[in-house]
Amino acid sequence: MATTFIWATVASHSDLLAKRSMVVRRFGIPFVVSIDTGAGLYAHVAICPHAWVRMPGMKLRAGCLACPLHGATFEQANGAVRDSRGKRIRRGLQPVPIELRDGDVRLAIGLDCLAFVMASNVRRLLREAAHLRKKLLAKREGS
Ligand code: FES
Repeated sequence: MATTFIWATVASHSDLLAKRSMVVRRFGIPFVVSIDTGAGLYAHVAICPHAWVRMPGMKLRAGCLACPLHGATFEQANGAVRDSRGKRIRRGLQPVPIELRDGDVRLAIGLDCLAFVMASNVRRLLREAAHLRKKLLAKREGS
């Protein structure tokens, strides 16, 4: 299926080289962009598929992107779960096409990114609602 997207500059190559990974926002969507030792560039939507929360503090550690909330790690190259830290995580990070052009790091931001963010919001709300329901039932049984 063809995807509609636009290229958006998110960082300079020199900045990314210095930092190795960074979280940027475009159109209200957080992205984590990173570079490996072979100068390969990678980008993913910075929303953790464990609790479906945005991860502004996501960092690159030993070839993996680490979630700051519960410590799950994901492969830098493809976003696959490396270590779930005992959490139930059914999928990896959402990859985003990335390119280097004239010293700029650019992402192809498309409808698939938007769909992923919207689905993440729904999943997070459903998760929180189930958590609240469980607490309310436990409280009712305790009273
Ligand atoms: S929210 Fe990322 S590991 Fe739990």
